[in-house]
Amino acid sequence: MSTPYIVTIASDKGGVGKTTLATNLAIYLKAMHEDLPVTLFSLDNHFSVDRMFRLSQEDSSGTVADLFTGGRFDDLMETGEYGVQFIPSSNQLLELRPDIDHPALLSKALRRSKSGGIIIIDTRPDLDVFTQNALFAADRVIIPVKDAPSLENCRHIYDFFDKHNLSRRALRILPCLIDGRIHFDGPFRDPYQLLKAYALNRGYRCLEGYIAKSPKVESLNTNPEGKIYPVLTHGRQTDVHVQLAHVARQVYLDSIEKQQRRLDDIRQEEAHSQEVHQTAFLKRRRKLSPSCLVCDHTLVHDDRIDPAGYFAMTSDGEVIGYLEEECFAKLIFRYFYGSRRSVEPNDPIWDLFRETAQRSYFVLHRAPHTRNFYQQQLSFYRFDETGLEVSHKIVELHEFEKRLLSKERSDLFPLLERTLFDNEGRLSDTFLVLRKVSTDLPEEILFDQSFNDLTDCMARIRKQLP
Ligand SMILES: Nc1ncnc2c1ncn2[C@@H]1O[C@H](COP(=O)(O)OP(=O)(O)O)[C@@H](O)[C@H]1O
Ligand SMILES: [Mg+2]
Repeated sequence: MSTPYIVTIASDKGGVGKTTLATNLAIYLKAMHEDLPVTLFSLDNHFSVDRMFRLSQEDSSGTVADLFTGGRFDDLMETGEYGVQFIPSSNQLLELRPDIDHPALLSKALRRSKSGGIIIIDTRPDLDVFTQNALFAADRVIIPVKDAPSLENCRHIYDFFDKHNLSRRALRILPCLIDGRIHFDGPFRDPYQLLKAYALNRGYRCLEGYIAKSPKVESLNTNPEGKIYPVLTHGRQTDVHVQLAHVARQVYLDSIEKQQRRLDDIRQEEAHSQEVHQTAFLKRRRKLSPSCLVCDHTLVHDDRIDPAGYFAMTSDGEVIGYLEEECFAKLIFRYFYGSRRSVEPNDPIWDLFRETAQRSYFVLHRAPHTRNFYQQQLSFYRFDETGLEVSHKIVELHEFEKRLLSKERSDLFPLLERTLFDNEGRLSDTFLVLRKVSTDLPEEILFDQSFNDLTDCMARIRKQLP
């Protein structure tokens, strides 16, 4: 089944005829094209859609609120009157609103739909995040305007489109509730002509025609049965009947003409951005040093990365690689936490360190006053996850350390040689950041999100270093 064509009816003014248009448009489309699946739902918290289309009193499987919390569009759809499918309305949307922070959520839910056809979305008279979601997903936005103030308000929808780089070609103004009894002298003979001229003057495109104000149409809402009747069945003798049919015909023809649907665009944009992420990831993956930066044991293979404890990167991005858990912990205890005794992996202090290390960034950098090649000093910092300094220690670098009977080379040197030393063994201006990684998935830190977090934090750390 093809991708659905999505029509959103929106305006941040109330009482301009949105709901009347949305519900009747669905009925006209279905009446004109029996085989066309037509689905309707409203993001407003009144229940006009339900009152108009609900066939049975049975409990439904969900509401429009579920579209924003992972529900499947096709499971929520119900068959309603006049052959129109609908999703029940909800009065939970307002409660949900603080949790919804992105306009692309609804398009994600719609994208998985196999319904095809045309989906019509009625919205609240408000550019809240739900309306924004409906705008973001739309192939066509119809903006009913009934007077000059409601036309002025269209600007907010245009601004939203500009802000999100959406094509304004999707937007169409439709004058509604036009009072045929009003006539003006001069070039604009009636409110319709005047609104249309205002719209064109602002560069807004209009649908052809308008919807007249009709007492008969207004009365379709009010009857002893508490139902809402469609214009098609109960207002055939009105001008509005002809006008709605004309609007429905335009929507249908536009839907046929638009082969590449908005949801297709969104799908493509997503595939493209995944590709960009993937390329960036592979570039980092290729740059990795193949072995532990301390002990030189191979960790990075073509097809996998062995469990590693820490990820390390120089501030100039020239060296990136991993350290084995043990190698780093030994360095820490030996050189920076002053415990000359050897700490074995089963020591509780080790567990404690591992636990707190998750929330730290460790930094090695030339100490502020070290200039003398023979007495180089190294600063060791610990920062928290927001990039605030937690501790700082300065150690003297000695390549060889006295042991009982012999001299042994310091484990710091292989690490510094691979990262911070220049060709002559001097500490350069760059610093080294070390970050605990997930043992099962050491490459996770190379994914865009984690990697960006890391580089953001490095930028904050850089500002604090001398
Ligand atoms: N063509 C029309 N002629 C007369 N009254 C209308 C017409 N369309 C809508 N109305 C009435 O105007 C009021 C607002 O319409 P509605 O569709 O609920 O607007 P919105 O959804 O923008 O708030 C309702 O009472 C409705 O019955
Ligand atoms: Mg409404």
